[in-house]
Amino acid sequence: MTKLAQTSSPARVAIVGAGNVGSTFAYALLLSGLAAEIVLIDKNRAKAEGEAMDLNHAVPFSHPTRVWPGDFSDCAGSAVTVLTAGAFQAAGETRLDLAGRNTAIWREIVPAIAGHNPDGILLIATNPVDILTYATLRLSGLPAERVIGSGTILDTARFRYLLSEHFHVDARSVHAFIIGEHGDSEVPVWSLANIAGMKLPDFCDAQGIKYDSDAMDEIFRQTRDAAYQIIQRKGATYYAVAAGLMRITQAILRNQNTVLSVSSLVRDFCGIDDVCLSLPTVVNRTGIAKLLRIQLSDAETDQLRRSAEVLRQTTASLKLAA
Ligand SMILES: NC(=O)c1ccc[n+]([C@@H]2O[C@H](COP(=O)([O-])OP(=O)(O)OC[C@H]3O[C@@H](n4cnc5c(N)ncnc54)[C@H](O)[C@@H]3O)[C@@H](O)[C@H]2O)c1
Repeated sequence: MTKLAQTSSPARVAIVGAGNVGSTFAYALLLSGLAAEIVLIDKNRAKAEGEAMDLNHAVPFSHPTRVWPGDFSDCAGSAVTVLTAGAFQAAGETRLDLAGRNTAIWREIVPAIAGHNPDGILLIATNPVDILTYATLRLSGLPAERVIGSGTILDTARFRYLLSEHFHVDARSVHAFIIGEHGDSEVPVWSLANIAGMKLPDFCDAQGIKYDSDAMDEIFRQTRDAAYQIIQRKGATYYAVAAGLMRITQAILRNQNTVLSVSSLVRDFCGIDDVCLSLPTVVNRTGIAKLLRIQLSDAETDQLRRSAEVLRQTTASLKLAA
């Protein structure tokens, strides 16, 4: 058992980057009562201070929790350090366009975090999340099971939500995954999507309704392009990703063995090797417990390989490989 797995409560969670995503996650975490200590670290110290003050004033309405603005030394002993620092996607910019800018920040912050906290789990949300998950692995020297990207957890949620609206069932009863890159090359796994164990065409047959493949294509298009649509309207996205980060943090701290589509180092899957991307993954107190080697259709396998290639090329251009 790792030192981490033996760590008992109270749990400390460090958040690096107290912007939209970091502070929304901090708020959700505070209200959940899951963490006893929340430290906010931002190069804009005043922002971290302001967010910590505001969050502390919510403590009397929620759970006894110590919230403070800190520095990298406060990552020591943190069970999970969530990385949300850096630039975000400007309107019209792809996630991969961000790679160079945010990798430069990563070279500065990841060694500092891992130096102070060699036993914790790093959870990355900053985009391009798969590239930065790989960069975190290389720059931290941590074992692969303790470096997790939020990956397609958000895309999978968007996909399930849109399917649930179409089929008029609770989103939690729709079992479907988006895998691959969190971004333009992501892959919907239609062949395994199901409601109550019924593949979607079978579900339609059972309901006496037509399986509308054009509507399914449109659902995937809306899933893939959701960030662009939201950014165009409100400038950034943060509620759903913060909820996703909460779900991952909960799976870790409560040792839940939850299957989530998160990004991690993939070794020898469908010819893909040494790339970080999302697959259905069992997450628990050790971090990545197991990548599930799902059976994909030939078309899905090809798409996943193409997605991996996009990521591999970008990663290679950043000269991060060990
Ligand atoms: N993975 C996902 O599904 C998902 C979803 C939404 C947003 N994001 C990504 O999350 C990231 C953050 O988005 P946001 O809207 O919170 O941005 P933001 O600009 O509101 O916040 C970023 C924060 O990082 C801080 N920062 C920058 N450099 C730093 C450094 N070197 N050390 C410490 N702090 C530093 C900034 O001061 C700022 O407060 C972006 O890359 C965005 O694309 C990911």
